[in-house]
Amino acid sequence: MSSATPTRREVLSVIGHTAAGLAFVPAAGSALGADAGSRSAIRVGIIGAGNRSGAHIAPLKALPDRCRITAVCDIERARAEAALVKVGGDAKPFTSHTDLLAAKLCDAVFVITPNYTHKEIAVDALKAGCHVLCEKPMATTLDDAREIVDAVRSSKKVFSVGLQFRYASVYRKVRDLVASGTIGDLKYVWAEEFRGDWARLFKDSQENARRNWRYYQKLSGGTLLEKNCHDFDILGWVIGSKPVRVTASGGNSVYRDRETIDHASVTVDYENGVQLALGVCMFAKVGRHQTTLVGTDGMIEFPRGGNQVTIRRPQQKDEVLQLVEQAGDSYGHHGTRELHLDFFDAIST
Ligand SMILES: NC(=O)c1ccc[n+]([C@@H]2O[C@H](COP(=O)([O-])OP(=O)(O)OC[C@H]3O[C@@H](n4cnc5c(N)ncnc54)[C@H](O)[C@@H]3O)[C@@H](O)[C@H]2O)c1
Repeated sequence: MSSATPTRREVLSVIGHTAAGLAFVPAAGSALGADAGSRSAIRVGIIGAGNRSGAHIAPLKALPDRCRITAVCDIERARAEAALVKVGGDAKPFTSHTDLLAAKLCDAVFVITPNYTHKEIAVDALKAGCHVLCEKPMATTLDDAREIVDAVRSSKKVFSVGLQFRYASVYRKVRDLVASGTIGDLKYVWAEEFRGDWARLFKDSQENARRNWRYYQKLSGGTLLEKNCHDFDILGWVIGSKPVRVTASGGNSVYRDRETIDHASVTVDYENGVQLALGVCMFAKVGRHQTTLVGTDGMIEFPRGGNQVTIRRPQQKDEVLQLVEQAGDSYGHHGTRELHLDFFDAIST
């Protein structure tokens, strides 16, 4: 491929990894602009005031010395106004992201809208001079991801993807245990996410597309992207290698009323010889989200969303590590507070 057209791997490598995670600061020139050296509160705009916005608003409000939410936008006015009540203060409501950007009330925006809208909003925000924290997945197509990367490069603003598990203590611990050889050489990873349905289906197709965008391939990017991009990101990080082969099979065996699949089995082979096997099932009546790593000398098991890691080795009693809770764990998605702090540090240091 020519240098003008980056490969998927090149795009992924510039999506970026700071030591702690995912903030991407372009190398050329200063990414800091007017914010350089300033530790004053960063003015944040929330774009998309649906379910996930609450998991950002609460931890943001708990960092008053780092940020202040100055604007909230949702195409549904009632949602923007409901979020304003949670935000408090003198934040202003908007029903269009372009109006929010034109008001120049924000240094950074959080893009918390359906996946298919991420590219347009992120690119507009970068062009308007805002730093962007964009929810996962950053885009639904490779072309859209490339367009965002180009906009980051030319804006010299900070761009971060909401893959908060990079910052969760459980994954950091597991990564350290693997890297230090606790279970010998890692060879195989078994990950399962068994859960219930996304949300209820609306009879009106327009309302359904607006509110249940996860049922549509084009709007969500598909179940494996919308649901399991976390697993592919975080387990790839633990495995510490690049994927070289992917096989997958899946479909709809229970929910036949939608495009996106309700179950899948995926294997990913990595350059270093490790294989990841991931099973996702959206119709489980009882939830289970568990990962097992098998090495040449033992196994590590842990659930997602917890703080407990079990090390199992032959002829030894199982070792259960209870990790110290991080300050933001109570907000639900472990690592979100640390993701915010890393984003603000990247902007202001
Ligand atoms: N990081 C995580 O663990 C995590 C968890 C859940 C959701 N998410 C991501 O967060 C995003 C939002 O998910 P959600 O569950 O909140 O969805 P949601 O449907 O509950 O909320 C999306 C909101 O965006 C609004 N919206 C739609 N288009 C808009 C536009 N152009 N401008 C402004 N507002 C617009 C909708 O009216 C809605 O209120 C998705 O990308 C999803 O993948 C991430």
